[in-house]
Amino acid sequence: MNPMHGINHHGITLLRAADPRVRRIRRSLPKASAHGNKIWRSSLAIMDYFIDNPLPASSRVLDIGCGWGAVAVHLAKHFDADVTALDIDPRVELLVKLHSDINNCRVNFSARDLATLDSREINSYHTIVGADICFWDAIVEPLFNLISRSNGPKPPAVLIADPGRPPFWELAERCVEAFDAEVISRNSYIPRRAQTFFLRIENE
Ligand SMILES: C[S@@+](CC[C@H](N)C(=O)[O-])C[C@H]1O[C@@H](n2cnc3c(N)ncnc32)[C@H](O)[C@@H]1O
Repeated sequence: MNPMHGINHHGITLLRAADPRVRRIRRSLPKASAHGNKIWRSSLAIMDYFIDNPLPASSRVLDIGCGWGAVAVHLAKHFDADVTALDIDPRVELLVKLHSDINNCRVNFSARDLATLDSREINSYHTIVGADICFWDAIVEPLFNLISRSNGPKPPAVLIADPGRPPFWELAERCVEAFDAEVISRNSYIPRRAQTFFLRIENE
């Protein structure tokens, strides 16, 4: 594949904004989203994480702030996960569909604010993931509240990845204090050296 148009990561094709199929979709939409418009480093790091820490097959997974669906597609394809890719921006739906189509897998899309998820819904998932979703101050409270509602008899595991911006650390500190949460880090070297931090709450 032309590297200007996309990359392949763990067998998953991820397109860039320059790919003709992406351009066609984006041209058809009202002004494209400011955030969901590129391959985010943390999504690649989450993909790496799950290669080393596989999900049980067919797990129900929620990808919050899914953007174009990189993580959702990876989990659907590699682990046959039943993934709901959720984003507040409805314009990303066609791009999530494009990514699931070209990678031959199925992902459910939900156009929704993560703050609207209730406890019953949250606790119906095996795992909740979020890549590059905690980099502005106002999202810390809704994310903390969402994690607070993962309190059923079998609460979901939570994994939120970030390069280490201040809002991420604020969320991490609150979760470490309030729940059985931890922060781990991983280095990666593709496409270049980078460190990613994971806020992790395990479910077993
Ligand atoms: C930086 S992008 C990351 C996209 C994707 N996780 C990835 O790594 O490729 C952040 C995404 O979060 C979405 N988002 C922002 N606030 C949200 C909210 N309250 N509920 C759900 N999604 C939200 C944005 O629309 C955007 O697509």
